[in-house]
Amino acid sequence: MTMFPSPGIDPVSLFTLEECTESNQVNSASVRRFSTFGLLSTNHLPHKLSQGAHRWAEYTCPHYREFSVSIRHLSNNFSASELVGFNNTGNVCVWPAEEVLTFHCLKNAESFKNQRICELGGGMTCLAGIAVAVCTDAAEVLLTDGNENSVQNVQEILAENRSKICQTSIAVRELKWNKRQTFEDLNGHFDHVISADCLFFDRFRQDLVDTIDVLLKPKGVATIFAPHRGKTLEDFCQLARPRFTVEVDCKYDQLVWQKHQEMLTQGKEVYDEDIHYPVMITLTR
Ligand SMILES: C[S@@+](CC[C@H](N)C(=O)[O-])C[C@H]1O[C@@H](n2cnc3c(N)ncnc32)[C@H](O)[C@@H]1O
Repeated sequence: MTMFPSPGIDPVSLFTLEECTESNQVNSASVRRFSTFGLLSTNHLPHKLSQGAHRWAEYTCPHYREFSVSIRHLSNNFSASELVGFNNTGNVCVWPAEEVLTFHCLKNAESFKNQRICELGGGMTCLAGIAVAVCTDAAEVLLTDGNENSVQNVQEILAENRSKICQTSIAVRELKWNKRQTFEDLNGHFDHVISADCLFFDRFRQDLVDTIDVLLKPKGVATIFAPHRGKTLEDFCQLARPRFTVEVDCKYDQLVWQKHQEMLTQGKEVYDEDIHYPVMITLTR
């Protein structure tokens, strides 16, 4: 299986100029050679035409048969204004950390029962949040990203999959971590925040910690998957420690660990664990 689209680039290389300069410690690893752990299957849906060059695919998971969703991928032909606009890294593909987060949510479906869940920085698919809405008995799921095009695409995806969502109340919303005044209505609202591959933005790392802190109930939990990407994961943990108990787990799932070990044999040219292997972070208070 190939994760689709598979663009051959790393999100760091899609930073706006300012972000690029800020994150030069991870820029050396700007080529994306590895795109999936093969936990999910994708089938193109060529008969499903949509505007422009956007493409639909069905995502399933051989390990969790109840998971089957239609997902729209944005075309990778960014206009000049899109490239210089708000970060576009979530409009490139489903990154491996989102794949692993989705798999983790399917595996732990029971834990979401009657819970209010928010996905932060879910990109153009919010795939993990969609999986929670479709395959669990969550009370409420809010799918968010700071990029307007991502959010519009997730709205299309939600419309397409709405009939598969039974009791869970679900919404999509633009939520920028650095615009706290725009989400004051969500203070202390969520039992669980989930997020994938969102720790490498130097400029927004503190905002992300603050956002999680604001959104979670006192006993809420955040589950985050992200590769190390130089010092960026550790920097995030350091910022989170004054507010949360931070647990970092590398060997969180036997299957993902096994795939990781197999990929390591391919050599660093193909698979570099620093930029490709998602580590699991759990924040509690
Ligand atoms: C590498 S992408 C990850 C997308 C998705 N989670 C995945 O792994 O496929 C990082 C995401 O963070 C979002 N993001 C970056 N800065 C943000 C901010 N200040 N507020 C909200 N979202 C932000 C981007 O729009 C992008 O969708």
